[in-house]
Amino acid sequence: MIRLIETNASLIARRAGRPIVISAVSARDRNKDRGVDISAYAWEDDMTAMAARNDVDVVVELVGGADGPALTLARNAIAHGKSLVTANKAMIAHHGLELAELTEAARVALKFEAAVAGGIPVVKGLREGAAANAIQRLYGILNGTCNFILSTMEDTGRDFDDVLAEAQLNGYAEADPTFDIEGTDAAHKLAILSAIAFGTKIDFASVETAGITRISAADIAQADSLRYVIRLIGMAEIDGEGGMNRLFQRVQPHLVPFDHPLAHVDGATNAVVAEGNFAGRLLFQGAGAGDGPTASAVVADLIDIARGDLGGAAGAPFSIRVSDMEAMLPAPSGHRRGRAYIRFTVADRPGVLAEITAAMRDAGVSIESLIQKGELEEDGKVMVAMVTHEGPEAGVSEALHLLEGAASLAEPPLVMQILGD
Ligand SMILES: NC(=O)c1ccc[n+]([C@@H]2O[C@H](COP(=O)([O-])OP(=O)(O)OC[C@H]3O[C@@H](n4cnc5c(N)ncnc54)[C@H](OP(=O)(O)O)[C@@H]3O)[C@@H](O)[C@H]2O)c1
Repeated sequence: MIRLIETNASLIARRAGRPIVISAVSARDRNKDRGVDISAYAWEDDMTAMAARNDVDVVVELVGGADGPALTLARNAIAHGKSLVTANKAMIAHHGLELAELTEAARVALKFEAAVAGGIPVVKGLREGAAANAIQRLYGILNGTCNFILSTMEDTGRDFDDVLAEAQLNGYAEADPTFDIEGTDAAHKLAILSAIAFGTKIDFASVETAGITRISAADIAQADSLRYVIRLIGMAEIDGEGGMNRLFQRVQPHLVPFDHPLAHVDGATNAVVAEGNFAGRLLFQGAGAGDGPTASAVVADLIDIARGDLGGAAGAPFSIRVSDMEAMLPAPSGHRRGRAYIRFTVADRPGVLAEITAAMRDAGVSIESLIQKGELEEDGKVMVAMVTHEGPEAGVSEALHLLEGAASLAEPPLVMQILGD
């Protein structure tokens, strides 16, 4: 961020109508080599002191963590009448409403473009560009680490653990990758986007979340033979069943048809699709992380604030004031209709297929294709994959419920939805 502000200083000043000046910096270790000379700037050992400085209008929080020092800094900044720019999706997903209410009351700005999909201006795109639309559905690839791992598995035929280890070595995955590979990071971003797109209160706790740790090279090869790729998709949509508006939110690996735009989103790239009732399908795509894209989003927020934009006339960080947001109940996945890919790992013995297909029949699930992989795995297990015809998701859940505890299943089945049009 410092490098960007220094490199593009005169361009930023012209665009913002005034220069953006770094008043002070803070981190844990003053002497760490950050690839940029910070000796010209005032240093604060205690970062909350930034909030009290008279020469600071905006505090930029790039510390991370839902709670702890980042949240303390955020609350302090607003209490001192400073605007806040943050890249911290965990903090916004958990405390965004509280911080938005505080900033609305203090008439300062809260901006978090970098928190969702790095350098892609999707928060701005939804808050401003799509502001006139009712959005029915929003989905996308929200985690670059998972996308890098899945597309590398696809390109190389290697297994998950192997590709994860390489991603950690070359900086595409954190030393502790749990938040990324278990889908939590994507769920944070989805909950934030839902609030902006649907005008509903952030409800991170209701995001059904599954990560990518169970995806095998065999799943990817199977999907490929059916003309799909596998991508971790965050999906949010309004469920109007029974005349009630409920919000469905889920992060789950999906099969994406070869000809879908998201099938071509490779590596650490992110992409978000929003369906507006007048704009139609909008696709936002770009780098989801990294120093440059993150700095680009942070400084764009600073430029907005310098231009006097505190979040629209109503001063609302989520495009609607918190007091006007709906508190939508979570929608159960069973209401949704779609096609699913289900992978079973079974003992190689007669009658197994009949047992699986009987459960499907009893639950009213219609099977479009059933593929039994010929080769035995080392431990005498066989992979059976199926694709269902379109039907209610509740049917698939019911079939899997009927199969629970079946001796022939070596592990719980893996279900992935197939992304529709
Ligand atoms: N990295 C990305 O590409 C990216 C993209 C989008 C959003 N984000 C978000 O940006 C935030 C930071 O992520 P990051 O990857 O940049 O993390 P990071 O490399 O660990 O940087 C965290 C920074 O916060 C400082 N810090 C941590 N605890 C502190 C404390 N108690 N007091 C003062 N300073 C403290 C660290 O200081 P030291 O350097 O002295 O240790 C470091 O400069 C997270 O919310 C993340 O989700 C990151």
